[in-house]
Amino acid sequence: MWGGRFGGGPSALMREINASIGFDKRFWREDIQASKAHVAMLGARGIVAAEDAETIARGLDTIAGEYAQSGVPEDIALEDIHMHVEARLAELIGPVAGRLHTARSRNDQVATDFRLWVRAAIDEVDASLAAFQRVLVARAEEHAESVMPGFTHLQAAQPVTLGHHLLAYYEMIRRDRSRFRDSRARLNELPLGSAALAGTSFPLDREATAQALGFDRPTANSLDAVSDRDFALDYLMSATQCSLHLSRLAEELIIWASQPFGFVSLPDAFSTGSSIMPQKRNPDAAELVRGHAGRIAGAMTSLVITMKGLPLAYSKDMQDDKPPVFEAHDLLMLSIQALAGMVEQTRFRTDRMRAAAEVGFSTATDLADWLVRVGGIPFREAHHITGRAVKLAEEQGIGLSDLELGALQAIDARIDASIYDVLTVDASVRSRTSYGGTAPDRVREQVERAKRDI
Ligand code: ARG
Repeated sequence: MWGGRFGGGPSALMREINASIGFDKRFWREDIQASKAHVAMLGARGIVAAEDAETIARGLDTIAGEYAQSGVPEDIALEDIHMHVEARLAELIGPVAGRLHTARSRNDQVATDFRLWVRAAIDEVDASLAAFQRVLVARAEEHAESVMPGFTHLQAAQPVTLGHHLLAYYEMIRRDRSRFRDSRARLNELPLGSAALAGTSFPLDREATAQALGFDRPTANSLDAVSDRDFALDYLMSATQCSLHLSRLAEELIIWASQPFGFVSLPDAFSTGSSIMPQKRNPDAAELVRGHAGRIAGAMTSLVITMKGLPLAYSKDMQDDKPPVFEAHDLLMLSIQALAGMVEQTRFRTDRMRAAAEVGFSTATDLADWLVRVGGIPFREAHHITGRAVKLAEEQGIGLSDLELGALQAIDARIDASIYDVLTVDASVRSRTSYGGTAPDRVREQVERAKRDI
């Protein structure tokens, strides 16, 4: 492509270190799509003769057909996908192929192709996240009343409903989707027409190309347009945040599936056995979702460090932008789908959850709140009285609701029998009716909101 300037060819090592075809072939469709939009605009503007533009467009269609059928035939001497397409075009239509690259550089070309690819990736992620949300909401509705222990510090804290717990993940995914949506809106400007870095002397119609490729507008600064990889970083940061959420649910499923907890039986479809221990049912898929979050964060870090301190405009370091994005995307898609499958098919062992909610004095706060509400006692004092009741129950090896009225009254004479109404786990969750609280009615309300919003 630049033989005019050079005496000798590159060494084999140079070819090898320089080539990106091994990974950028992944966006051959976007490359051809962008080239078609570019040449149509060149033809409409009379920068390239209309019949040449048509010949080029037909040639590009032929290549698309070939690649769709048998993949991209890789030749590292041709470096990247852009050169592969152009070289094949020249084989198919002859020297007129050379007119395609008028007013264009691979710098604005790759920035355009990659944006198109990331935009489609965001749409794919969004659809999978929406499907995952539907699963979470369906299971939350089913378990709006199922009581389980809520934890802080992984110590039994207060009873909650399983539906409420699942909807917590619905909220995280809601924010993830909005983060991806924001990234998409910022991404949606067309770099093509910026050429190598300075713009071009040809009278382009960048608005027309932008429109043809579904971009909102052309980028406003050619230097920025070819140097910018914010869109890839935005994607990776959104993916990282999302994968953190997935990893937390994965971790909870792993804990819940352990024998001491026994809160869930994971479905056969997402478990594995052991080659030596016949009794085993391992939560491998959940562990991999937890693990993949680390790799996604690693991919994000990799591109952050590639971009740090790069001078304007394009530098070849930026060719390394693609592998981390591809890797993160593949891992994220797998993680979302696997986790959705697990949540959909997991059997929640509500009897075990309820039994666990009943130990650990999880209704102590309810007792204290009763003292405040009925007895008119300041909360700090109520906290202290309740602490003494917990201590007594602990000494006797019984639950709070098993303490005798006389024993409670010996601690504080203001206590009467109606205290027992608040000491059960069901009464406890039913009473948490504040907006966003765990009460079954509130959970159902949030389920309805979620169904509308997804
Ligand atoms: N393969 C290159 C990349 O992915 C395309 C841009 C090459 N531009 C250049 N001036 N060498 O970044």
